[in-house]
Amino acid sequence: MSEREIYLGPSFMLPRRGFVALPIVPAHRLPDGTRAAGALLGRVDGQLVAYANVCRHLAIPLDYGDGEVTEPDGELLLCHHHGATFEPRDGECTGGPCVREFLWRFRVVERDGEATLVVGHEGDDTPGAPP
Ligand code: FES
Repeated sequence: MSEREIYLGPSFMLPRRGFVALPIVPAHRLPDGTRAAGALLGRVDGQLVAYANVCRHLAIPLDYGDGEVTEPDGELLLCHHHGATFEPRDGECTGGPCVREFLWRFRVVERDGEATLVVGHEGDDTPGAPP
C-alpha cells in the first residue's frame, strides 16, 4: 500500500478536544479494500490521533455528512447509523454491532508546529488488522 501525506495545517488550528471529520481527496483505499473519503481527527492526552471515517459495522462514514462523530458528551466516537461507539484512544468498538473491531488508524505527525496526516500504514497501526 502506498504512503501519502496530507498536510493538515498549523497544530494550534486543530482540535484541542473532541473529534472533527475531514475529507480525504482523492479517497484512500484501506487494507480491506474499502475506500475512506474522510478522516476523524482528534486529540487524546494532548496527542493528535486520526482514524478513517469508516465504520467497522458497514463501510460507511460515522456521521451523516454533518461532521457529528461523537456522543453528546463528547467522550466516545459514535456511529450515528446503528449506534456503534469507539474509544478515542485506540479506536476499539466498545458498544453496538461491531464490538472488539477497531477503526482503521492513520498516523499523524506533528513537527515544528505543523501537522500532517499520513495514510498507507493502517495495516501496521490498527490492532487486529490483517497483515
Ligand atoms: S454502520 Fe456504523 S453502526 Fe452500523
